Amino acid sequence: MKNIDINKLIATLTIEEKVGQLVQLTADHFIGEAEITGPYAKYNLSDEQKYYAGSIIGAPDATNAYEIQKTYLEKSNHKIPLLFMADVIHGSHSIFPVPLGAASSFNPKLINDIAKYSSIEAANTGVQVTFSPMADLARDARWGRNMESNGEDPYLNKVLTSEYVKGYQGNQLDSNSTLVSCVKHFAGYGMVESGREYNYSDLSERVLNEMHYPSYKAAIDSGAGMVMSAFNTIDCIPATVNRKLLTDDLRGKLGFDGIVISDWGAVTETINHKLADSFEGCAKLAVDAGIDIDMMSFAYILELVELVKKGEIEESRIDELVYNVIKIKKDYGLFENPYKNLDPKKDKEIGLKTVLDKTKEVADESIVLLKNDGMLPLKDEKYCIYGRKVDSKDYMGPWSWQGKTEYISSIKDVFAKDENCQIIDYNGANFEQQIFDHSKKIVLFMGENSWESGEAKSKTNIKLKIEEIDIIKRLKMAGKEITLVVFAGRPLDLSDVDMLCDSIIYAWFPGSRAAEALYDIITGVVNPSGKLAMSLPKSVGQCPIYYNNYPTGRPYEKAEEAYVTKYIDESHYPLYSFGHGLSYSDVVIKEVQMSETKGLNDNLELTVVVENESNIAGKEVLQVYLNDLVASVVRPRKELKAFTKFEIGAGETKIINITVDSKEFGYINQNIEHTIDKGKFEVMVGFNSEDIETKIVEIV
Ligand code: GLC
Repeated sequence: MKNIDINKLIATLTIEEKVGQLVQLTADHFIGEAEITGPYAKYNLSDEQKYYAGSIIGAPDATNAYEIQKTYLEKSNHKIPLLFMADVIHGSHSIFPVPLGAASSFNPKLINDIAKYSSIEAANTGVQVTFSPMADLARDARWGRNMESNGEDPYLNKVLTSEYVKGYQGNQLDSNSTLVSCVKHFAGYGMVESGREYNYSDLSERVLNEMHYPSYKAAIDSGAGMVMSAFNTIDCIPATVNRKLLTDDLRGKLGFDGIVISDWGAVTETINHKLADSFEGCAKLAVDAGIDIDMMSFAYILELVELVKKGEIEESRIDELVYNVIKIKKDYGLFENPYKNLDPKKDKEIGLKTVLDKTKEVADESIVLLKNDGMLPLKDEKYCIYGRKVDSKDYMGPWSWQGKTEYISSIKDVFAKDENCQIIDYNGANFEQQIFDHSKKIVLFMGENSWESGEAKSKTNIKLKIEEIDIIKRLKMAGKEITLVVFAGRPLDLSDVDMLCDSIIYAWFPGSRAAEALYDIITGVVNPSGKLAMSLPKSVGQCPIYYNNYPTGRPYEKAEEAYVTKYIDESHYPLYSFGHGLSYSDVVIKEVQMSETKGLNDNLELTVVVENESNIAGKEVLQVYLNDLVASVVRPRKELKAFTKFEIGAGETKIINITVDSKEFGYINQNIEHTIDKGKFEVMVGFNSEDIETKIVEIV
């Protein structure tokens, strides 16, 4: 049925069947006796209403999904298959580092692998659509969903977002083991005021187009089949009922032609935003704005048929929404094979070695060595390990709802194999004496619990736990050499302990192979290569803080100057900035060659000579930043516009060629148009965003 005529099919449907295609229900509405409890019981849906629904969220496995599809198709007249959706965010059952950690790999190929390998297990267990990637720019450490983002930079965000989509969907959407990618949350969800979850967000149209749309556009250009609307407001209109956002911009300007799905319950949350006072009112606003599928708000399933029958909504408008839904089902091959990814025999094909091995490879490159005064790597020397995380398996982070702890070895399990390592029991008595007696070197494993970040997990205190800070201080006073390993789903404020630790490793949540990756990095088997995708603040009072911030009319030059941009009680610089990350090698830039002028539409080609002045092979990330010296709007002080990760041998000298695309010299002007000015740009080259070599290029 590859050549199914969608419009002809739609013409055969009743209004109830059409509306049904716009409704998504949880799988438990269809499993077993389908006794719905909790907040949704009050809607008391009839069997007929349920079996009109067009998609399912959260089927637990392929066996259940298969049974639901089979029963559904037997009952339905139209035989339009259900679409099964779920949150496969950083792996299905084998878990990868959280996306903010994976972004710190600065390795687009690995990001593509995450999506591709996640799809293997997801496709074995009843998932056809994943609500991933989250393409929201994140700049406020207080927000819980930083962990799900690609961090604070629009360029890195768009490059990695594209790779997620291509990895999930493959080259041929209807081939096996692919997932439809639903990019989210359109748009600007990461800009919630004060970092408070679901809060108001205020973005100018220009900034929205310049800083936020590029990642969603990259997803759309990579073929993303779905887009999910955000919970926040844009221009004081909730994204979910914002026609300018969802139709004029998303479809008109960005060229999207797939399915727009609301976030969970967002359609009727319009009542709380006070744009409507009834489900009927919400349904009308959402249909007009361009929501194709209503995820679990029940506005569509309860109100749309009547609204069409009363003539308050044109049936032709419903047909347009239904077309978008059926088109994706067709493109995904569901009419040929409604049971794609729903094979009960494959349910046990999870925890695959190939996938678990890939999670290790990603973890190795996602972990960031923030500081190393020489303590690491620990080779052939005695050391202790200690901390809340040692005997835990809490390494997967949020959004790992199907992640299996049985695939995980604890840090204690892994380090116990090392005869040089003494494991100090975290709950043991007089831990200090044990530590003091054993060795001068100690590795501490501390930081957040998985439940402390993710959705609805905004925080105002982003420090380590007070008892952890106290332990570090006591061990430092006792003259210990300390390596601190931090687990976190967000940037934390490490200012209390930074100076007390000889080395600091930022692990994020590394996933199923966390312990093995950390052991290999700490003992030097793996040379760390991660770079921060989000700056670490010195204080929560600085948030939001990000490297690509804007110049002011009163720049800070000297501390004693009064009337300049600064705080009187804290630095305005981060503790560690975007792009920062050390390795055990010592790679330096010997020379940067590039032309001093270029035409408006010419790419800028750079030739960079680098040398590894150590005897340790490793990986580095060459980063190129631009600073537009004069423009028609205020431009950030620097912006990442190209990067490449490369391997380099011990003592090796290499030539790295890197290109800055001509379009990256442009920006969105006051007329919301992309423009490139002639004139001078600083071109900054380095292995992070601060220690950089600056040259000038002039666009003539
Ligand atoms: C949640 C999240 C969204 C997720 C959806 C379905 O509220 O905001 O990212 O995909 O619901 O679980």
